[in-house]
Amino acid sequence: MRALAAGLCATIALLGACTEGDRTAAGAAAAPGEVAMAGTPEGIPSHAPARFGFGSEASDARVAMWDIDVRPDGEGLPAGSGSVAQGRDVYNVHCVACHGPTGTEGPNDRLVDSEQWDDVPGTRTVGNYWPYATTLYDYIRKAMPQLTPGILSHDQVYAVIAYILWMNEIVPEDAVMDAETLPAVVMPARDKFVVDDRVGGAGIVR
Ligand code: HEC
Repeated sequence: MRALAAGLCATIALLGACTEGDRTAAGAAAAPGEVAMAGTPEGIPSHAPARFGFGSEASDARVAMWDIDVRPDGEGLPAGSGSVAQGRDVYNVHCVACHGPTGTEGPNDRLVDSEQWDDVPGTRTVGNYWPYATTLYDYIRKAMPQLTPGILSHDQVYAVIAYILWMNEIVPEDAVMDAETLPAVVMPARDKFVVDDRVGGAGIVR
């Protein structure tokens, strides 16, 4: 029990939540980064560590992975392609744990819902809310799989997009997504968004 409490405290100490006494009890298990106590910035409790030791240097490769912009018309899409069948394999390895076998039952965001709406949607999914298919590329490439973004190749991203669109009954089972076909997909909610072309600030017209 004591060992458990000390271990828990070592974890909590990272967050700066343990008392001095607790930390002494944790002893040798003091977490890395919990060292320099001097020079604590104003407003931060003095028992907080000077550095939390979270994160890592943004390497050129990581920056390159995030540094993409895919536009609604497909500008910015890379070369590559992927089919629904290939995407099923990608999905079942990299996505199913969080999004569920059909994209509806996972603990995280639903990916599938074909229910259409007129005013306020009950759910907001790729199937019934996203106006542009190309956004899937931008988002998945940068952010998914959530714990290891960047591990999918361009072909795998295109493939898993094809699979998600197929699950939403937006493309047929023999669909292949690439820089030409993805922007050509018309999303069901496409016309439910209006362009906000109001001019604000100094140029406002009343
Ligand atoms: C570790 C869990 C996890 C895994 C694995 C994962 N996701 Fe996600 N996904 C999430 C979470 C959490 C969100 C919601 C993120 C948010 O709202 O900020 C999300 C959101 C999404 C969304 C946006 C849905 C919406 O309408 O807002 C898409 C698309 C998506 N994931 C695709 C994928 C794909 C494709 C894979 C596999 C390559 C994948 N995810 C793997 C956890 C995961």
